[in-house]
Amino acid sequence: MKALLINGSPHKSGNTSIALAEVAKTLNAQGIETETVWIGNKPVRGCIACGKCFENPGRCAFDDDICNRISEKFKDSDAIVIGSPVYYGQPNGALLAVLQRAFFSCSANVAGKPAAAIAVCRRGGATAAYEAMNLPFQMLNMPIITSQYWGIAYGMNPGETTQDAEGMQTMRAIGNNLAWLLKKTGGQPAPGIPEGEEWTPTNFIR
Ligand SMILES: Cc1cc2nc3c(=O)[nH]c(=O)nc-3n(C[C@H](O)[C@H](O)[C@H](O)COP(=O)(O)O)c2cc1C
Repeated sequence: MKALLINGSPHKSGNTSIALAEVAKTLNAQGIETETVWIGNKPVRGCIACGKCFENPGRCAFDDDICNRISEKFKDSDAIVIGSPVYYGQPNGALLAVLQRAFFSCSANVAGKPAAAIAVCRRGGATAAYEAMNLPFQMLNMPIITSQYWGIAYGMNPGETTQDAEGMQTMRAIGNNLAWLLKKTGGQPAPGIPEGEEWTPTNFIR
């Protein structure tokens, strides 16, 4: 079984990467394969609601940035772990732009798979960012991997997060809890979740 870890920071080897590496190390120790992808620091587009992904599911119409490179990996992943630095109390903008497009265009390949969010910050705003990162999971029947604390680690300059002993412990607990769930379920998406009703969108006006 394999978990896909997404590093949303513009720093390839910054604090978010350190937090994700601790999760990956724990997963690997439990026999779970991991792949970490970095969203990079090149420009990414936001969703323009063009609806082209309804015609061509599994791909965003914009093919000139990292989005489709990441969503292509969803299918072969049994779990998703997303890490973001906290920017103004939110996940960073580039990561949100990528994830909104990847989840919207490729929802069938992530739905029902376990997911965890990790927010990394200097001092504050991490819980708000963490909550925002968990919202798509809750709309896609993705079981959320919890820990012994919220999925938060602290640090300012790249590297400092190694000094956050409790944060690192939280990351290991995420890894252990995710490995436990994957082993229990054999990586099958949302086993035991009853088949849902056919979706009845209403928009509250009809
Ligand atoms: C634009 C910007 C906004 C930030 N906003 C916050 C914030 O709201 N709260 C906070 O504690 N740290 C904030 N930080 C600090 C980063 O979250 C922190 O340095 C983090 O460790 C960076 O992770 P990275 O090394 O993976 O990029 C901000 C940094 C930047 C560049």
